[in-house]
Amino acid sequence: MKNEEIVDSLKVIKCQHVSLEVSNVDVSLKFYRDFLGLKLSERHFANENPAIPFEMAFMRLGKQHHDLVLTHDPKRNYPEKIFNSGPAGIHHYAFECPNKKSFDMYLERAKEMSLEIVRGPVLHSAYQSKGDGTWGENWSFYVLDPDKHRIEIFCEMAEIDNAGHYIMENGKKVPDKKAEEI
Ligand SMILES: [Fe+2]
Repeated sequence: MKNEEIVDSLKVIKCQHVSLEVSNVDVSLKFYRDFLGLKLSERHFANENPAIPFEMAFMRLGKQHHDLVLTHDPKRNYPEKIFNSGPAGIHHYAFECPNKKSFDMYLERAKEMSLEIVRGPVLHSAYQSKGDGTWGENWSFYVLDPDKHRIEIFCEMAEIDNAGHYIMENGKKVPDKKAEEI
């Protein structure tokens, strides 16, 4: 095998699904269906498979079998999560909208559903005039799911080209900005 082939085969291609522990699978299934339109691929109850003593619900956005997995251990007592407190864990995870129009519609949907918007909408940019001075060039807002997992909804994140330049949604480079590693 050539060196380049070895390097290519050692590259993972994306960060994909997340699995969340939830206190009630029915409640979370409804939330992720109603708010984001995820569909149930399959659901299993505890001990259906002897190796899996907990409930699992596999949900998808597109063609892959799952983008989100809800898990629940019926023998476990789930204390209420205190927002911005507790041991180290996932700070948030994110769903990408195809464009700003879609992002705005999700923002309206979050308001209609009376979801707790814990941050935003905000443009994470130190360069664009509407930006908040932070990083990524993307629009975002953040809500909490029924177990207070923080979810980010975003669009228009900058892409980084082969030379490390940041390319914004409009195709322009962010001046004087380069990725730390190329
Ligand atoms: Fe984020």
